[in-house]
Amino acid sequence: MSEGAMSLDPTSDTYFKSMRKAASARVSKKRFAHMEGVAATAELLARTYGHDATLARLAGILHDWDKDLDNDVIRQKAKDLGVEEEIGPWVLENMPQVVHGPTAAAELARTHPEIPDEVISAIRKHTIADPNMSPLDEIIYVADAIEPGRRFEEAPELRALIGEASLDELYAKVYQFWTARLVSAGALLHPDTLMIWNELAYPKAHERLMRYEKRCKEKKR
Ligand SMILES: [Fe+2]
Ligand SMILES: [Fe+2]
Repeated sequence: MSEGAMSLDPTSDTYFKSMRKAASARVSKKRFAHMEGVAATAELLARTYGHDATLARLAGILHDWDKDLDNDVIRQKAKDLGVEEEIGPWVLENMPQVVHGPTAAAELARTHPEIPDEVISAIRKHTIADPNMSPLDEIIYVADAIEPGRRFEEAPELRALIGEASLDELYAKVYQFWTARLVSAGALLHPDTLMIWNELAYPKAHERLMRYEKRCKEKKR
């Protein structure tokens, strides 16, 4: 079935298969295996946490739509799609590897208007995340990090949290792990990372501070 004649119901199997085929034609075999792993993990996470599994698998299979583009190509694409400002000149210049989320989201929203906004949002936010994450945004962020093809040492421990921790907790754990990993590797951090991390860390950090200040006051009495 050609893409033009395919079902435009983004929750249907036919639609998923057709977009899966389109995605596979854009990336290397290895990348596509990762995208399939993210789709399957996102589906599992959605079922576990009571969200739409069909939209989760669709966002998963599409999330790295632009990941195999060369740096200069992706910089130009960001300009052509009008997402250059949203990304910012410093990030565009120094962190081109994170630009594929916003460009894929902008392109797919235009070329495939039937894709729901929540799927587009999850694609946009899958590399850097965002201070405001919907459940589907969190599902794709987590699935990207812990799909079966990810072999880092901590992956099994994070996967074991599926169904044990809440989705918010699992996302926070994965975000913490991924950010620490970037710092260990000497990588640059996106300017939003500090803001996102502080929001995630705030509840527990605030609780610790309150306990500490309470103890200090009690000692003074
Ligand atoms: Fe990606
Ligand atoms: Fe990915």
